[in-house]
Amino acid sequence: MTQVLIWGRSREMLAGDPFPGSPEEVDTLDTLCESLDGKGATLVLAEADRIEAERDEVQAWLDNGAASQVVLVAVADRENGDAVLEALPFVDDVIAPPVSPNRLMRKLGQAHQALTNRREKRQLEIAVERKSKELDTLNKIGVDLSAERDINKLLERILTKSREITGADAGSLYLVEREKVNGDVRAERLRFKLAQNDSVPVPFEESTFPLDDSSIAGHAARQNQPIRVDDVYDMPSDSPFRASQAFDEKSGYRTKSMLVVPMRDHQNEVIGIVQLINKKRDPAALLRPVSMVDEEVIPFINVDEQLAGSLASQAAVAFLNAKLLQDIQNLFESFVKAAAYAIEQRDVSTAGHSERVAILTVGLAQRVDAIRTGPFADKRLSPDQMRELEYAALLHDFGKVAVQERVLLKEKKLLRSQLNIIQHRFAYIAKSLEAEYLRRRLDALTSGQSSSAELAALEAAYQTRRAELDRILEIVLKSNEPTVVSDEANLRALRDLPSRPTPDWEAEEEISLDDWVRGPFLSSIEVEALSIRRGSLSDEERGEIENHVEETYHFLSRIPWTGDFRRIPEIAYAHHEKLNGTGYPRGLTAPDIRVESRMMTISDIYDALVAQDRVYKPAVSPERALDILTEDMTAGKLDETLLSIFIEARIWDDPEFKKLIRWKRRR
Ligand SMILES: [Fe+2]
Ligand SMILES: [Fe+2]
Repeated sequence: MTQVLIWGRSREMLAGDPFPGSPEEVDTLDTLCESLDGKGATLVLAEADRIEAERDEVQAWLDNGAASQVVLVAVADRENGDAVLEALPFVDDVIAPPVSPNRLMRKLGQAHQALTNRREKRQLEIAVERKSKELDTLNKIGVDLSAERDINKLLERILTKSREITGADAGSLYLVEREKVNGDVRAERLRFKLAQNDSVPVPFEESTFPLDDSSIAGHAARQNQPIRVDDVYDMPSDSPFRASQAFDEKSGYRTKSMLVVPMRDHQNEVIGIVQLINKKRDPAALLRPVSMVDEEVIPFINVDEQLAGSLASQAAVAFLNAKLLQDIQNLFESFVKAAAYAIEQRDVSTAGHSERVAILTVGLAQRVDAIRTGPFADKRLSPDQMRELEYAALLHDFGKVAVQERVLLKEKKLLRSQLNIIQHRFAYIAKSLEAEYLRRRLDALTSGQSSSAELAALEAAYQTRRAELDRILEIVLKSNEPTVVSDEANLRALRDLPSRPTPDWEAEEEISLDDWVRGPFLSSIEVEALSIRRGSLSDEERGEIENHVEETYHFLSRIPWTGDFRRIPEIAYAHHEKLNGTGYPRGLTAPDIRVESRMMTISDIYDALVAQDRVYKPAVSPERALDILTEDMTAGKLDETLLSIFIEARIWDDPEFKKLIRWKRRR
């Protein structure tokens, strides 16, 4: 019922008394407000002059909410009506005095209608506002969820947000596991993945149970419908499901109201279930002691169902995306590991090298990431960059697949086949010399004319040639060892040996064994191979091995790495570069070598030195390896800060690294 208030003097505004008892009169806006307090819808008839006198205050008062309770009608002379409306656009109407009871009644009716309309409009506005807030919240949650790639963190977040948005004290999350055979579902189970509870600790353990109608979650999944229960202890007797009270009995909790919503994928298939428990009047309240449940817990409502349903759909998309990303990640990782395995199958002597270099490099990178002082104080590596570095390290030597096996596996200066030929040749020559000597001795004895001095001379000559043969073979075997620098005496002895010119390898086949007996016993190619001053490789072979870096780069560049891994080819490409430009293949200098590659270089050299299994050079102790690294650093080849972090943090103490090294030793 709309009332009337007069702001001014009623006898100047009204014609007669329209009601039994005069309407209440007020003098100022303040007294008007006081008088309105506690009243409902009101028609205020106000002298235009009074409104004018407090114009700004009146407008603010209406804007701040009074308009939903009050219809303000200015009373002014007819000739001033338009001017008043123009000056006071916020008033609802202007009426000329004196106002007859009939006009007042009509005005009251209009005011009542106006206020009803305003109230409805306001309610609509509030509803729209609430909806848009909900949408906004859902959108924010959606964006938030889609940014999370870690599946476990994502599931935690889905449950937390679902509880937040519905005011639930506790909740659980289940994932559907389907075993499909030829597209048909064979078996379905629910995996209990997560539980949260604000009021009591939850001793959670992941488990699975059959997806059937006996549980609320199972029923919701099978029906693909949300379920709301006001009190799970008081369910209709014909309900197909029962709520387990085992948790309540163990923890002293009391599960009462429940809302279960399915998480559906784009094909409307249920992939999970969000179960929300005990909606609270005050979301911040704790349900402790258990008696608080009756006071605080209320049933979930329609809006909760809609909100949780929308969130669950977004959550399903985010979950499937994260899972897809993880599957791709796993696929990538398997591919990288398979590639690393392939390299090491070609050369079992370096098995584990790629993996160990990856462990050392990532270990060093983690230290660098944690350091807050020095030249790398600002260097940070995101988890993706760490993985990028790990992959680059695992694949850094992949190009070795393109190196000929006889070069890759070359243990000594001569190829194994070359040494075999030489050894057989020398055995043949020895037998031929012996046969020749025995034949001559037999001739001499048979002729009966040879003196014992002649026979002795024959034998001495034979022995000299045999000794010469043995000496040369000894030089060959000694020179064949891949010592860091061949000793000078050996080199000189080799150089002094006469050798048979062999323009190419094939030509050697044409020399008959008998030709070799007269000497020289070695070909020029053999002498050249034995004269390698460092290691076991000729310049040409070394070039072929060094070419593995180019091959690695070409191989890695063919892979369409995603944004996060795009630098893998570049990082691996520089693993043999040295800061002073003495590295290969491009001879880059410090400004052009990334920190990631510098870390890999240190790790690569360390592992190559300490690995027990390199065929072409013996392993050195970790201390000696660090000395060699330090010498390289002093020579300007390696990064000083990175090397000191490597040494101080004893990166090689990583248990995984040690395990791989020990594993190699047992083989
Ligand atoms: Fe390499
Ligand atoms: Fe390497």
